[in-house]
Amino acid sequence: MQIFLDTANVDEIHQGVAMGLVDGVTTNPTLVAREKRKFRECIEEICSLVDGPVSAEVTATDTEGMIREAREISSWAENIVVKIPMVPEGLVAVRRLTEEGIRTNVTLVFSANQALLAAKAGAYFCSPFIGRIDDIGEDGMEVLSEIVSVYDTYGFETQVLAASMRHPHHVREAALIGADIATVPFKVFAQLARHPLTDVGIKRFLEDWEKVEDLV
Ligand code: E4P
Repeated sequence: MQIFLDTANVDEIHQGVAMGLVDGVTTNPTLVAREKRKFRECIEEICSLVDGPVSAEVTATDTEGMIREAREISSWAENIVVKIPMVPEGLVAVRRLTEEGIRTNVTLVFSANQALLAAKAGAYFCSPFIGRIDDIGEDGMEVLSEIVSVYDTYGFETQVLAASMRHPHHVREAALIGADIATVPFKVFAQLARHPLTDVGIKRFLEDWEKVEDLV
């Protein structure tokens, strides 16, 4: 499973890239707004830091506006994937952009039916928002599992990008279900490598090592 960072913060991206474990980046309007930078400048810098796909989202709500924005955004760098919201206008835009060779990430997906339509429209990525499904008392992982199963059954090439991942348990579940990608906030990314027993184990090994002399 690939791991993307879900952030527009270049310091976080620098740290993740330095570990050699970041396969791509996803952003959204909220994450970019948080950085208080010009949209284009921010996305171009992220694209220069990461070899893999970088998702940047349109803000238009009509098909023609989405297509216009998507053409502009996709011209900023080779590795951009344009995020299009999962609405009927968006699906029309995805179909047309796919025909033009522009890769899309259908975002704000909350059901297997929506994911089915995104794939039929030709989306490159489909992003179910797991945490936000959990937030309303439903089961995000069940939806993710249904999407993976539908895509496998019909051989869709659209990649399942598990988004809105709030904690390491989400990542583990997404990996077990077979999501192609999990996009995670930096905090969750940093947590993935940690386990209290690893820390205790290292401490104990070092203590034992110091009790004896002349081992090396
Ligand atoms: C995905 O591409 C989104 O940017 C993101 O995962 C949303 O996560 P949230 O529900 O924690 O805001």
